[in-house]
Amino acid sequence: MLYSMVVALLTTLPLANSASVRSLSSCLDNLHFAVQNLTYSSSIIYTTPAHSNAHARVSFTLVNTQVGLSFCEASSPGWSDADFFSGDIPRSCGVPAPNPQDIATTFTYLRPKRSMQVKQSWTCGGNKFISDLTVAVNIDCSSVEWQNPDWRWPNAGGAPYKTIMVTCKPINVESTQASTVEG
Ligand SMILES: *[C@@H]1O[C@H](CO)[C@@H](O)[C@H](O)[C@H]1NC(C)=O
Repeated sequence: MLYSMVVALLTTLPLANSASVRSLSSCLDNLHFAVQNLTYSSSIIYTTPAHSNAHARVSFTLVNTQVGLSFCEASSPGWSDADFFSGDIPRSCGVPAPNPQDIATTFTYLRPKRSMQVKQSWTCGGNKFISDLTVAVNIDCSSVEWQNPDWRWPNAGGAPYKTIMVTCKPINVESTQASTVEG
């Protein structure tokens, strides 16, 4: 397995007048990130040679050793595998409630670039932390295309004309420790 999470940029911003129960160094102690179970799949179903329903889905769990897990998931419309997740659209991840550390996580997956940006902010000991991770998504996918040999227009009886299904092996990506800290 190639560990390829690249850069974690970490910034701390002091919050005014907040009680500090943890020191800055304890908030940063053993801070690591991991993307677990990154899963991608897509499906294109041609109901006729000219009409298709297509979508793709990506999901993963973000681990931050200081704040725990966020579950990230998004789907994308498209026309072909090259079109899924091709826009620079940030998506929100879910964090378990209650959320006393004000954890907020977003990600942008760019399928054509095999790359993902994951941003997270949280508080600890009266400081606000912001991380910005770039993740290389080296994912191993296989595509299965099937064309219905018996398809007839207009009497196909609802059977698809063609399907193209992409599934990928889930991957885990470990980070190095956050490389830049300003406080
Ligand atoms: C990995 O993600 C897939 C797709 O979201 C999910 O079905 C599966 O249960 C997850 N596996 C684990 C071990 O969390």
